[in-house]
Amino acid sequence: CGIVGILGKSAVAEKVVESLRRLEYRGYDSAGVATLEHGRLEVCRAEGKLKNLEHKLDKHPMGGHSGIGHTRWATHGKPSERNAHPHATKRVAVVHNGIIENFRELKTELEAEGVVFRSDTDTEVVAQLVDRQMLAGKSPVAAVAEVLPRLKGAFALAFLFDREADLMIAARRGSPLAIGYGDGEMFLGSDAIALGPFTDRISYLEEGDWAVLTREGVEVRDESGRIVERPIQKVPAGALLVDKGNHRHFMAKEIYEQPEVIAHTFSHYLDLSAETVALPDLPFDLAEIQHISITACGTALYAGAVAEYWLERFARVPVSTDIASEFRYRETPLTPGGLTIVISQSGETADTLASLRYAKECGQKVLAVVNVPTSTIAREADAVLPILAGPEIGVASTKAFTCQLATLACLSVAIGRAKGLLSQEDEHRLVRAFMEVPRLMTEALKLSPEIEVLSRTLAKARDVLYLGRGTNFPLALEGALKLKEISYIHAEGYAGGELKHGPIALIDETMPVVVIAPHDRIFDKTVSNMEEVAARGGKIILVTDPKGAAQAHVDAVQKLILPEMPATVCPMVYSIPVQLIAYHTAVIMGTDVDQPRNLAKSVTVE
Ligand code: G6P
Repeated sequence: CGIVGILGKSAVAEKVVESLRRLEYRGYDSAGVATLEHGRLEVCRAEGKLKNLEHKLDKHPMGGHSGIGHTRWATHGKPSERNAHPHATKRVAVVHNGIIENFRELKTELEAEGVVFRSDTDTEVVAQLVDRQMLAGKSPVAAVAEVLPRLKGAFALAFLFDREADLMIAARRGSPLAIGYGDGEMFLGSDAIALGPFTDRISYLEEGDWAVLTREGVEVRDESGRIVERPIQKVPAGALLVDKGNHRHFMAKEIYEQPEVIAHTFSHYLDLSAETVALPDLPFDLAEIQHISITACGTALYAGAVAEYWLERFARVPVSTDIASEFRYRETPLTPGGLTIVISQSGETADTLASLRYAKECGQKVLAVVNVPTSTIAREADAVLPILAGPEIGVASTKAFTCQLATLACLSVAIGRAKGLLSQEDEHRLVRAFMEVPRLMTEALKLSPEIEVLSRTLAKARDVLYLGRGTNFPLALEGALKLKEISYIHAEGYAGGELKHGPIALIDETMPVVVIAPHDRIFDKTVSNMEEVAARGGKIILVTDPKGAAQAHVDAVQKLILPEMPATVCPMVYSIPVQLIAYHTAVIMGTDVDQPRNLAKSVTVE
């Protein structure tokens, strides 16, 4: 979904739509605009594509010179005009990306005070909260300052206020926002691409920033309320197709946008109000699935390997995960009642496509989990679950991996529920955990400076070992893959329990070992593994949580500490430090991070 805002010199509604069109690549199913018409807030929204909104605007033109706009992916059930953004009260209109985690509590509180909600969205809670503050006499800026700290989650927001034709407020927590500087005009967009037609002078809000815009300029405050400067950069106008933001590499940009894109993915597959998973209708019955085969290549394969644990736990279905190039030639017997899940960012990988065809020949139902919904794999599968990560440019996959995980996590819960194996309470608990992922990812990104320092040690190593157990084992494989792909340092991923069966022979003081181990029921076993490493002089980097850190009394351990979180969401959130380790190490090594040698983004040959 996309956010746009304009404080202009003439009617802005058309420009807002033009700008939203440039964000279409993010996907959406409803859209809307709010402008100030003779000082009063007016809203126009429409289901479906932007042309529906345009038809409405043709019939009822909006003349306001200040406006905000939005394209939205439905959060629950069918997209509807009622749930489309902007959400407006008498005093304020809001557009929003991301998830307000605590919206149910806030909504209950507001309802108790007599507020009547007009939509099922989490966004309206923000509008109502700000409205209450303004009703109590606060200025728009003071009202927003009051409300922002009450919101939990990762999101981006833009506000427009009644009778305030020269004011717009924007806030960034987890989802990026760019500010465009015009001549007596100001612009706001989810990225610089949206602002291409209007200006080439762009600044980016940083995490936690919020900005007060007028036609004269912008005042940016950081999380603590301090006024800060965010440098204006010259971005070549119009030429942009995809925008690197203020990042050095696409890979960094794609790592950093994960809180936003994963919120988008979850929003699509969850009903936030009901706290349930809400998959689109599928042409087969999930309750009937007898066994599952997962097949993919590279990073997508490791997403599948994580999902194997979830599917077996939640749906109690036997699962086998296979490298596509092996699966297609092995002639695995696939008996009726089976589901084959093919996972592919590009949807074009030759071996994955051949595996899909083999599975179909064997009478399997085939479900594709892809990023490119028009791809061959998507077209040939019986059903498609798009991961909605947006274009991924870096050859080394990052956001596609976590969005694949998010999609597969929702699928696992849906199958568990269809089979009657998950109670309603279990499902609510899992959905609440999923809703926290964007915020937890934002927390994880804060480890970046620490990881940069630590990567200097890794950059000196010839070999690096990654260890993990349970769902963190595939993540160890992914960590090793990421590191070797972009830094060219040899790395291997191992299940913690396998350490003694081989890799321990390699350990000495020159071989760093990255241990991915949140505190879980088998954490003690991982501590034993770390002791085995430490006893041989190995240097350990432990990625864990506060409990794990307190319990790991092992020599020579550097710790990266993430917040405590439910086990199911760990592989998604722990992906962030794993990706940052590879990224910073590669930057230190001076490699071509976005296009590492010998690798291709889409492998359409065997
Ligand atoms: C290539 C890419 C990897 C990707 C793999 C599978 O090796 O470099 O990043 O994971 O292909 O691609 P797919 O598009 O099928 O996910």
